Amino acid sequence: MSPTAPLELSLRLAIPADARSLGVLGTQVFLDTYAPQGIRPLIADEVIEHFSTDAIERLLAQPATTFVVAESAGHLIGFAQLTRGAKPPHSEAVDAVELARLYVLERFTSRGVGKRLLHESERWAASNHAMMLWLTAWIGNARALAFYAAQGYTEAGKTVYDFQGELYENRVFAKTLAPR
Ligand SMILES: CC(C)(COP(=O)(O)OP(=O)(O)OC[C@H]1O[C@@H](n2cnc3c(N)ncnc32)[C@H](O)[C@@H]1OP(=O)(O)O)[C@@H](O)C(=O)NCCC(=O)NCCS
Repeated sequence: MSPTAPLELSLRLAIPADARSLGVLGTQVFLDTYAPQGIRPLIADEVIEHFSTDAIERLLAQPATTFVVAESAGHLIGFAQLTRGAKPPHSEAVDAVELARLYVLERFTSRGVGKRLLHESERWAASNHAMMLWLTAWIGNARALAFYAAQGYTEAGKTVYDFQGELYENRVFAKTLAPR
């Protein structure tokens, strides 16, 4: 397949049988994004804590959690992880959904997959009566900061991500959703 060939892309909600694939996909995107220098114990701990099959199965079993998955030719290539009812920092909004993760495999980036997953997340959140979709992005993740700004998200403060005891500054982004 040439890298510019149009993608056959379909989106759907995850099912329990996706847990292993979601964990492996999450591991790959996490390492590509946050481990450019390689692996150290802290990074290994973070991956095992969040992307083991058990961890993803537990998330899939939580009523507040939904994954939208992007599939191409029978393979998962990205996902959006959504948390219903998660209150954003610095806001009193109660009817909000957090975009906890938006992950696209590196070789499929810049081809519209992130945008499709984000739009589907907004549609899902609005149809679940949310008035806001919000997320946090690490200040060192320039691509993600540019992506969310280009998609109409506005900065709504700062927060800190506790990475196995190391603290990293994150930006909060939010978008008000049109009611459905
Ligand atoms: C950030 C991410 C989700 C974007 O997904 P993507 O599939 O690459 O983005 P798309 O192809 O849908 O791009 C949509 C828009 O984002 C912007 N964009 C995409 N890549 C960009 C880049 N490298 N630099 C600046 N803007 C970019 C463009 O405005 C683009 O608009 P266009 O369609 O008019 O060209 C993806 O790169 C990713 O998964 N990265 C690794 C994990 C990560 O950082 N997740 C976010 C953590 S908060």
